[in-house]
Parts: sequence; C-alpha cells; structure tokens
Amino acid sequence: MEIIKKMSEYGHEQIVFVRDETVNLRAIIAVHSTVLGPALGGTRFWDYATEDDALFDVLRLSKGMTLKNAAAGLKLGGGKAVIIGDPKKLKTKELLLAYGEFINSLGGRFYTAEDVNINASDMAVLSETTNYVTGTPAVSGNPSPFTARGIYLAMKAGASVKFGSDSLRGKTVVVQGLGSVGYALCEHLYREGAALKVYDLNPAVVEKAVRELNATAIPAEELLTTACDIFAPCAMGAVLNTGNVKSLQCGIVAGAANNVLLDAATGDALEQKGVLYLPDYIINAGGVINCGMEIVEGIYDADTVSAKVAGIYETTLKIIALAKEKRIGTYQAACPLLLTLIFYSKFSTG
Ligand code: NAI
Repeated sequence: MEIIKKMSEYGHEQIVFVRDETVNLRAIIAVHSTVLGPALGGTRFWDYATEDDALFDVLRLSKGMTLKNAAAGLKLGGGKAVIIGDPKKLKTKELLLAYGEFINSLGGRFYTAEDVNINASDMAVLSETTNYVTGTPAVSGNPSPFTARGIYLAMKAGASVKFGSDSLRGKTVVVQGLGSVGYALCEHLYREGAALKVYDLNPAVVEKAVRELNATAIPAEELLTTACDIFAPCAMGAVLNTGNVKSLQCGIVAGAANNVLLDAATGDALEQKGVLYLPDYIINAGGVINCGMEIVEGIYDADTVSAKVAGIYETTLKIIALAKEKRIGTYQAACPLLLTLIFYSKFSTG
C-alpha cells in the first residue's frame, strides 16, 4: 500500500506504526491535524480482518476528529489510534503500559481517550506511562454519558424539523449497538417514551435492554429494513452505503458511530430519499467536549461541560438550516465551514 499517498489523500500530518511483540502490541496512531492544537482522539481496540482495514479505519476516524473537535469549538486537532487484535485475548496491563510509552514518545502531539473496547479504567493504566491521556476516572471519567446526551438532544432537534415537534414520545427508534453510548442513549429515549428496537452482537446487552427499557430485540438483517422514525447506528462506522440506503425506512439517521456514511455519495443518496442525516461528528461531540476540557482548560467542571453539550441541539438546527438554505446535504453543510476555520486559524497563528 502507498501509505504517504493515502496520507495526502486524507490530509494527514503523521502516521505512527507501533509494535512490541513482548506484549503482543500492534497499533497505528494517526495524527491528522495539529493546526488548532494537539490532536485528541480515542484509542480503539478491534480485531480487524486485515491491516489495511485497520489503516482505513484510523485514517477516516482521525480526520473525523479534526472536524469534530473544530465543530465543538475546541482548540484541539484531530487524531485517533487503533490497537489491532482481539481485546478479550490481548488486552493486558503490560500491553497498555507499553502503548502509553509510545503515546508519550509523541511529546504531546497526540492525546488519547476511550473508544470501542477501551474504557476509563484503561485510561488510568495508560496514565502510568504517559500524561497525554484524558477521560481518566480521577478527572473527567467516562465520556459516553455526555456523548449519549448530545445525540439524544440532536435527535430532538432533528425531530422538530422533520416531524414538527421535538418530542420523541411515541417515536420508534432502531438502535444498532448497545455499548457505553448506545445503551445510555436508549435510557434517554426510554425515559421520554420512545419505542426501542435494538440489536447488538452481544446478546446479554440486548436482553438487558428488553428487560429494563421495554425494548424489542430485532435480528441484524432487519436493522436497515425496519420501519421506524429514527435509525441510530451506535456501533462501528461505514454502516450506510449507496446500496443499502435504498432499503431504509426511517425519517432520520442519527447515531454515535463515527463515519456512519461510507462516502459522500451515500450522503447524497440519503438526501434524495428524503432522510434527514444528522452528521456524526456534530452530534456525537459530547465525549470530546468532556475530555477536551481537561486538556484545553487544564481543569474539569461537569456543569460547564453539560452546558456545552446542551448546545448540540442548537448546532444541529443550524446545520439543518444551512443545508436547506444552500440546497446541500446536511453532511456537506458543516464541513466546508470547519475546514475554512481550521485553515484560517493556521494562517492567523502563523
Ligand atoms: P462500546 O465498545 O462501548 O460499544 C460498542 C457496542 O457495539 C458493543 O456493545 C458491541 O457489541 C456492539 N457492536 C459492535 N459491532 C456491532 C455490529 N456490527 N452490530 C451490532 N452491534 C455491534 O463503544 P461506544 O463507546 O459505545 O462507542 C460506540 C460508537 O460510538 C463507536 O463507533 C465510537 O467510535 C463512537 N463514539 C463513542 C464516543 C464515546 O464517548 N464513547 C464518542 C463519539 C463516538
């Protein structure tokens, strides 16, 4: 693979390949941009089928973090890391400590936080070998509840435009992935009286949602074909493509997963179908707002974070309005403005 060519295609500054066989560590750290500040992004532990799959994921995720952090008004750039392998077999304290040393060697160009299969207690372990971690239990902690609340508020904003009211009572929401964010999102929706239809690879969490949140379990193959008001992808990215968008029967797509759309053509296909897409990096920013405060302000205050997360409702409305005014897709509405902001900042700060 021509990696530098890929870097220039996505606009990356730096890719670091990491290996320590003594602890079975193989990872890729991608620093997309440090124009606005040090790059912040989670570390994902995932058993990728191939190294190319891991690279594809980390390139897309880290670019998304540049946009997300800028959209959230944080003086932070974007990055992301993936640790390759099955976390159930490979995640050990030794591996995390070794990984922390590699992060440390970047000298603060990259800060990391939780992502899929990496939790707040793993952050505490990393903090033994590097200071460049956030989301540790001792400070800002698990970002997922903030992420879930932001998505819930964005859904309400989307519903106000799409359905004429921001109440989600009686609305049917299909949720893919009941992890830290997906389950917390379901709790918000349940409290408001929405009907939940859910699927997760892990049957135990599905059973829990059925038991505690009156959810209906659906099989994987019905996720994209079930009639509903909102489809919420809260597992992995690239869930929607131009092919499967045709089968969707929802009014809104809004979820936690980063890079929900495989490509821009998928965004256009949703637009043509009349499905309102709420851009992932706008609506799932609650987590970075939480973790980012620790880095940017040097202090942590949950009330300030909550107030900023509440702003996701208004931001979502602005994106929808801008898309309507410019006659472009919502997936296009935020991006050019953010890129302008990032490049303006580059020139204004020298
Ligand atoms: P998690 O690891 O706690 O949960 C992921 C869940 O998805 C697990 O229950 C897993 O079994 C399930 N899953 C994986 N593949 C699946 C599939 N194909 N179909 C159905 N279920 C599947 O992860 P978390 O933290 O809840 O994150 C979920 C998504 O949201 C990820 O894409 C993550 O990058 C994104 N995100 C998370 C943030 C956070 O604050 N945790 C912030 C912003 C984005």
